[in-house]
Amino acid sequence: MPEDKKYFPVMGEKVSSLGLGTWGMGGGFWTRDTSRDEEAVAALRRGIELGATLIDTAEMYGAGHAEELVARAIEGFPRDELFIVTKLWPTHAAADEVEKAARASANRLGTYIDLYLLHAPADVPICETMRAMEKLIDMGIVRFIGLSNFGVEAIEEARSCLSKTDIAAIQNRHSLMYRRDERTVIPYAARNGMMYMAYTPLEKGRLAREPFLAEVGEKYGKTAAQVALNWQICIDPVVTIPKASRIEHVEENVGAMGWRLSREDWELISKHYSAYL
Ligand SMILES: NC(=O)c1ccc[n+]([C@@H]2O[C@H](COP(=O)([O-])OP(=O)(O)OC[C@H]3O[C@@H](n4cnc5c(N)ncnc54)[C@H](OP(=O)(O)O)[C@@H]3O)[C@@H](O)[C@H]2O)c1
Repeated sequence: MPEDKKYFPVMGEKVSSLGLGTWGMGGGFWTRDTSRDEEAVAALRRGIELGATLIDTAEMYGAGHAEELVARAIEGFPRDELFIVTKLWPTHAAADEVEKAARASANRLGTYIDLYLLHAPADVPICETMRAMEKLIDMGIVRFIGLSNFGVEAIEEARSCLSKTDIAAIQNRHSLMYRRDERTVIPYAARNGMMYMAYTPLEKGRLAREPFLAEVGEKYGKTAAQVALNWQICIDPVVTIPKASRIEHVEENVGAMGWRLSREDWELISKHYSAYL
């Protein structure tokens, strides 16, 4: 698999254009379920082996168990080739909670956190959370910080609170069927050197069943899912993080890396889904 990474100026480094989502692995919304652990670990390990070295998780997923599964999945891989993202749940956004939550995540992951995101806007004043998150960098717990489920105005406000670092990444919902950020947050991230992480990129599998995408993919020898994901990574600051527990899905999704749609096909697809813009 040829390397497919993108460079992001705020971080000053490259990150895999496609990552591995983990929502649903190890349980659900603050609930732990260990019954499908082996399947999840095997899927993540296969993805990493094939070059998807970006992993997205959160303290909320499986009440921390998804992070424990990530710890198992990364065993034996060179740590500095991986980029591990986890998220702070908004109920932990008060200054005295942030360090505790970050340390607990790092403990479950068994390693430092490359990128720590505030999962969603919280009831706590944003500057309180941002300043506490910024301190985690000096403590060596996290390398970069960012935001999830934020619009441009709220991102600007959060940035104004920071003194030593900048927001390195935004993670929002984006797919061919959910495109509003293409007019707002995506160009903003591009202008400001940030990474944009697109979540729910396959619309939970729906885009993998689109005959139109399968047809465009034929001349590339690619599937509908691979075309949908490649269409996203053709956009400058976008990296995509599909989740797959099934090995065959992981292998298929990783095949969205290492090539690009032609400009004409990219535009044809954009036009076909323009109702979602
Ligand atoms: N920041 C946030 O608020 C937020 C919100 C939602 C998601 N996320 C992150 O983004 C990740 C991805 O989003 P998501 O899990 O909501 O949705 P998604 O990636 O669009 O869809 C996942 C679903 O699609 C299936 N799938 C994966 N690859 C496939 C393929 N090649 N063909 C057919 N079906 C396929 C998976 O099945 P199997 O699992 O059975 O293989 C799973 O049921 C999450 O896991 C999470 O890490 C973040």
